Amino acid sequence: MSELTRSEKSLNQLFAGMWQNYLALNPDAQSIHQLFGGHSEVVNDHIALRTFNLPQVNIAKLAAPLLANGYVEGGDYVFERKKLVAKHFYHPTNDKLPKVFISELLVEQFSAELQDTIKQLINQITPQMVAESDFLYSGKPWQLSFATYQKLLAESEYAAWVAAFGYRPNHFTVSINHLSQYNCIDEVNQLLLDNGFKLNAVNGLVKGTALQGLQQSSTLANKVDVVFTDFTVKIPSCFYEFALRHKIDGQLFNGFIADSADKIFESTDVKLA
Ligand code: NI
Repeated sequence: MSELTRSEKSLNQLFAGMWQNYLALNPDAQSIHQLFGGHSEVVNDHIALRTFNLPQVNIAKLAAPLLANGYVEGGDYVFERKKLVAKHFYHPTNDKLPKVFISELLVEQFSAELQDTIKQLINQITPQMVAESDFLYSGKPWQLSFATYQKLLAESEYAAWVAAFGYRPNHFTVSINHLSQYNCIDEVNQLLLDNGFKLNAVNGLVKGTALQGLQQSSTLANKVDVVFTDFTVKIPSCFYEFALRHKIDGQLFNGFIADSADKIFESTDVKLA
């Protein structure tokens, strides 16, 4: 075994911190991890992060610690109906390191009221906070009332989620390709259902096809108590995803399918969870 480089150490620390933060909101992920981990190592296909496209916290800002440690940009994605764009990042030489999928809300496409609200939140963050090594799992760095959360929710489920939870992984993803006991997403879904986990059924349990190169499914987000300035309320937080990648023209597909991701986003929908 070769010694870990400084970059690999930084990345391992970052992802370990994110995993612990994520488990605190979604302890089911630990149970599911053990469900699979009993048979084989659980490899994480990707981590998803959400943000706003304001210059203080946009995709480039969130990706900076990844790029500084050897990650490169993979693909660009557009979600017109949800008014989002996204990019994915990956490590070009270590395929055990997760891809990171970062989306951002196109704030200027929403009402003046939503834009003002988001700017007021972002103005509570300093550049020093964003530069901290744990920013990507630091949670909600601003004050927010439940009344404001509900106003955001009326316009954008995504805006309301980021406002309520701040900076932390939205989900981790089990790579079905790396499981020794399962190589079919339907079997994985059945195992989860048999063990009492609720799955996102928007457009069916499986998003995407083998021909597209990627099949995905996910649990519904776990509801947790969020402390707002006026009330404490249970709302959907984080979920666990399952991804099976297929070969296209002899090459394993390593990107994402926007149509599928669009449905996966809805795993945090308050109307479903
Ligand atoms: Ni995902």
